Amino acid sequence: MKKKINVACELLMYLTLLAQMLYVIVGNVAHEILGIVFFVSMVVHLFIKKYWFKAIFKNMNKKPASRKFADTITVLLLIAACILMISSMGVSRTLFPWFKFLMEPLFHRYLATAVLTLSIIHGGMHFYFKAKSKKKAVILISVLAILGIAIGLVLVPYLNRHLRKVDIIMDEKISGEKVEMTGEKPLVVYFTRLGNTDFEDDVDAVSGASFMKSGDTLIGNTELLAYMVRDAIGSEIVPITLTGEKYPSSYTETVSVGGRELREDARPGIEDIDISGYSEIILIYPIWWGTVPMPVASFLEGNDFSGKTIYLIATQGSAGFGSSTSFVKEKAKGANVIEVMSIYCDDIPDSRADIVEWLKSIE
Ligand SMILES: Cc1cc2nc3c(=O)[nH]c(=O)nc-3n(C[C@H](O)[C@H](O)[C@H](O)COP(=O)(O)O)c2cc1C
Repeated sequence: MKKKINVACELLMYLTLLAQMLYVIVGNVAHEILGIVFFVSMVVHLFIKKYWFKAIFKNMNKKPASRKFADTITVLLLIAACILMISSMGVSRTLFPWFKFLMEPLFHRYLATAVLTLSIIHGGMHFYFKAKSKKKAVILISVLAILGIAIGLVLVPYLNRHLRKVDIIMDEKISGEKVEMTGEKPLVVYFTRLGNTDFEDDVDAVSGASFMKSGDTLIGNTELLAYMVRDAIGSEIVPITLTGEKYPSSYTETVSVGGRELREDARPGIEDIDISGYSEIILIYPIWWGTVPMPVASFLEGNDFSGKTIYLIATQGSAGFGSSTSFVKEKAKGANVIEVMSIYCDDIPDSRADIVEWLKSIE
């Protein structure tokens, strides 16, 4: 019976781990539930195999190299899985949103890749000890381990980039409850990659990278948020628009251009934005390299913010504001800078209710 439960747990662990890798297909809620199934199976598996904890330190010197290697892999797997459990709670957006430790999704993905690869080698070692041809077993384990690394580091990012659901019905997402502003309405200023990128005809091929689509219309992530605010309070919205060279249509190239601009502390030329008639500005921007894109820096340095309030709404592919808040505080001299919310890019289409709640608090 114990043996059967153990086999079931092992199978569950491999299957749930692989299914979780297909995050973009299964969605966030299923990903988090699968994570719990994985860790529960792991605990049951460890309980059944508890004799291993005693056996590992016994007759260490007499153990053959292959056994020592298998034990080392098991220890590493156990450590990596425990850290993965903490990081899973850190990046959780549905089941453990209150857990604020190890919140870095990239670290989570690397760790999950390590756990998958170590699990393959761990399972493979059982096969190795029974296999007649040790050489063939080593080759098979190596191939599968490389496959595990490739799944985590190549396939998952590829699927995330190209299968991300980008189709939305824009009117449904941006319209809804209105907020009556008793005082002056804030000006919404936003920067998005979409209006600042040179696209070729194959725009469809890149739409999954960071945009959303409504019918044939492409919408930038921050742009959608600006539309939501406009719909709720009827404010003016103004995009930060480059006057010079635009960003490349390739997402990856834009990432490196953005990184270079940050390193060089560049101030790309932008169209003038008149903020003189406003005492409050809602600034919506994507996090680029942990801070604001440099055209946003151009906007901040090119205007007088003394005595004004700047509300920050960021979007990102990981979490938080990075160092963007301190950057804005430093560049927008004399402004009162307030963090409002930082929205994970996949959550943008469903964030109108949160935005409305916040708008009510400043009406
Ligand atoms: C040049 C560049 C750098 C980025 N750097 C980060 C980053 O450091 N951290 C992060 O979480 N997301 C990063 N992202 C992802 C964007 O913040 C995210 O996709 C955002 O929602 C894009 O908004 P937009 O489509 O309105 O431009 C980066 C994207 C680009 C293009």
